[in-house]
Amino acid sequence: MVGIRLSIAALCLLLVAPPAWGANILGLFTSHSQSHLILHMSMIKTLAESGHNVTVVSMVQPTVMHKDIHLIVIPMPEEQEKALDNQMKEMAGQKNSVFNTMTRLLSGMGIMIESQLDLLSHPRFQRIYETKFDLMFIGYFINDFQLGVAAKLKVPVIFAWMQAPMTVIDDLIGNPKEISYVPIMGTALGPGERMGFFKRAQNFGMDLMIRSLFLVFKARSTSYYERQFGNEPKDFPTLEEMQRNISLVFTHSHLVSEGFIRPLVPGCVEIGGIQIKEQPDSLPEDIAQFLEGAKHGGILLSLGSNIKSTAVKPELVQSMFKVLSGLKQRVIWKWEDLDNTPGKSANILYKKWLPQDDILAHPNIKLFITHAGKGGITEARYHAVPMVALPIFGDQPTNAATMQKSGYGLTLDLLQLNEENFKAHIEEVLGNEKYALAISRFSQLYRDRPVTAKQSVVYWTEYVLRHKGAPHLQSPAVHMTTVAYNNLDVYAALSAVLITALFLTWLVVKWICRKLCGKSKKEKKVKKH
Ligand SMILES: *[C@@H]1O[C@H](CO)[C@@H](O)[C@H](O)[C@H]1NC(C)=O
Ligand SMILES: *[C@@H]1O[C@H](CO)[C@@H](O)[C@H](O)[C@H]1NC(C)=O
Repeated sequence: MVGIRLSIAALCLLLVAPPAWGANILGLFTSHSQSHLILHMSMIKTLAESGHNVTVVSMVQPTVMHKDIHLIVIPMPEEQEKALDNQMKEMAGQKNSVFNTMTRLLSGMGIMIESQLDLLSHPRFQRIYETKFDLMFIGYFINDFQLGVAAKLKVPVIFAWMQAPMTVIDDLIGNPKEISYVPIMGTALGPGERMGFFKRAQNFGMDLMIRSLFLVFKARSTSYYERQFGNEPKDFPTLEEMQRNISLVFTHSHLVSEGFIRPLVPGCVEIGGIQIKEQPDSLPEDIAQFLEGAKHGGILLSLGSNIKSTAVKPELVQSMFKVLSGLKQRVIWKWEDLDNTPGKSANILYKKWLPQDDILAHPNIKLFITHAGKGGITEARYHAVPMVALPIFGDQPTNAATMQKSGYGLTLDLLQLNEENFKAHIEEVLGNEKYALAISRFSQLYRDRPVTAKQSVVYWTEYVLRHKGAPHLQSPAVHMTTVAYNNLDVYAALSAVLITALFLTWLVVKWICRKLCGKSKKEKKVKKH
């Protein structure tokens, strides 16, 4: 009897009590970009849903949340915010390459990095150190100096990166460097396309350039680390030691469907598409009705969250309005300032905020007009909606070019936009079914996985928790010098042996020659006499 009662009591406890090992997890997602935060929050939310006690520190209010997440928002000081806004506006008014964007991060946009350092000294952040954590996430955005927080908390670290693994991430986790066939940022390739000599040379040059830039970032990170953690006890690990001790990296990518096929070490886990709901939520009433009544289909237009719509030149906006208001399709336009819309038209619905993913999931949506942010493209591809991309800066031109090469739509530089070309692009993508076919084929590949992105996040995070860090996953490459990694010392030794051998052979040949020639000369001399 007692036994039964006890087990009933135990059962009740099991039902009431939270999961036995809800770990204390800290997420440091301090990039100023909402689009980065959406990805990181979608990832961390799955851990809260699995019963872990998650605390998140961010700089902007996240749009993705979970009721059990302890959220600490430490906003950027107003002055910095203004300066950054101006930088963004400037960038929207010109053509920007990857290089240009990166050098801006070293100058005017350096605020985006410095503010992530300032945040660590904020009194509200300092209280973090009072809690005992089991694991820490860092959303990477040139903020590796934040690894000092993990050193203070003495916890293993998982990095999260918003894209496919790139140079810095490869170096951190030890992915092989394969620049002869893996295009890096700024080199756009379609699926199945291979790099010829010039593309490879360009890729090589780009790699060198990015590595040099990151040397500068690294020096800056080291000085920030010393500034912030210089007063810690003597045995406090250096930044380099911390960089070489990362347990895992989650990347928001899915190379098998997105390309490019390349080797990844076991510590690099892909969770691309985590922000996409497996089942869409129902749409707000006005949007649902608007789309249901779209006999000729609907179009979604969003230029993202980084650039406020008002930062785009008024003439451009007018051209866009003229074209869109003349279409028979219905258009949902993301527009911040509802008191000053580009114009009234029965087929256009302006919304300040949109459930983009749920709208793209609607079967009546036939076209997505986008600034080509990674997040939006991912959602459109998941839901098989062809696109017209209007890229502005950063990774957007590359995203857009890759999208076009893959056949999912067309791209048009936002600064080149006029009524004629905008209309022609829209009509082509809506009218020619090859775009819809290509993207629905991709959509099928993208969804075909052994486990979902959410399952991967939960499994691998708990794996790191179970083993108290995953040093056994570390690639030896992480701990090697450039010379050793590239076997340069072995090549040097081999060359030395080879050169010595050649030299010795040459000496011997010379000696033999002299002997023989000497002999024949003597013989000749003898004959003459
Ligand atoms: C959950 O995390 C918060 C820190 O944000 C901490 O104060 C609290 O004690 C934690 N709860 C448990 C059960 O550990
Ligand atoms: C590396 O991380 C593990 C846990 O992930 C920890 O036990 C170890 O002390 C760390 N080493 C250094 C040098 O920080």
